[in-house]
Amino acid sequence: MLLEVRQLTKSFGGLLALSNVSFTVEKGDVVGLIGPNGSGKSTAFNIMAGTFPPTSGQVLLEGKDITGLPAHQVSARGIARSFQLVRPFLHLTALQNVMAGRMYGHEPVASTHQAKTEAMAILAFIGLAEKNQTKAGSLTVMERKWLELGRALATRPKLLLLDEFMAGLTPTEVNAAMSLIGEFKEQGITVIVVEHIVKAVMNLSNHVIVLNAGTKIAEGSPQEVSRDPHVIKAYLGERYAAH
Ligand SMILES: Nc1ncnc2c1ncn2[C@@H]1O[C@H](COP(=O)(O)OP(=O)(O)O)[C@@H](O)[C@H]1O
Ligand SMILES: [Mg+2]
Repeated sequence: MLLEVRQLTKSFGGLLALSNVSFTVEKGDVVGLIGPNGSGKSTAFNIMAGTFPPTSGQVLLEGKDITGLPAHQVSARGIARSFQLVRPFLHLTALQNVMAGRMYGHEPVASTHQAKTEAMAILAFIGLAEKNQTKAGSLTVMERKWLELGRALATRPKLLLLDEFMAGLTPTEVNAAMSLIGEFKEQGITVIVVEHIVKAVMNLSNHVIVLNAGTKIAEGSPQEVSRDPHVIKAYLGERYAAH
């Protein structure tokens, strides 16, 4: 077991954003985390990535308790994430952004030369090799999104958390993102994806977890989850009706 989340609860003032949510993630899994807006998906990511601590509950990575560790320490242990609202270092070039990931992540390299070589390979992988000298602030929103994925990959994560990475991508880009995510497994990277593109989530994931109003209402294979009446009522019915 790579990750175990035990009875996570998070309240913001009077609002219960997550309530007693537990699940496990196996190495090599692609887990889909779905649910309506406001159901607690980003909150779960924020807690796992150390952006803020839970009100109660635990996060264990490879059996070690990492609950409440600050983001840079969580990154050093091997969890990387992309933000729903992307935020690369705008004053740094694309290359410097990815190099920063390589030098401050999990198993970081000390040599700037080596970091540069590896960062260039990652930029090629995400289609930004030619923009390596462009400041992140001058990239398009979509390019920044790919850059942020590059920076996350550069930290050599064991677990990658992707928060609505596909939102706003063209159908061609969605396909590119899906095949990229498909390749992560061979690189030893386990992924949890939050996405509203239900078809993409169901195709990519071997395990799906459904949140609704801060509570886990279902989990299982994509087939099991998409047949579950509670899931259809809370989420899928409305999504399918909209498409
Ligand atoms: N930093 C925060 N401060 C106060 N309320 C928050 C904060 N982050 C999220 N929330 C609230 O928690 C609930 C869950 O939000 P979120 O985890 O972002 O949902 P999702 O990602 O599933 O759309 C929402 O009601 C949201 O308004
Ligand atoms: Mg969210």
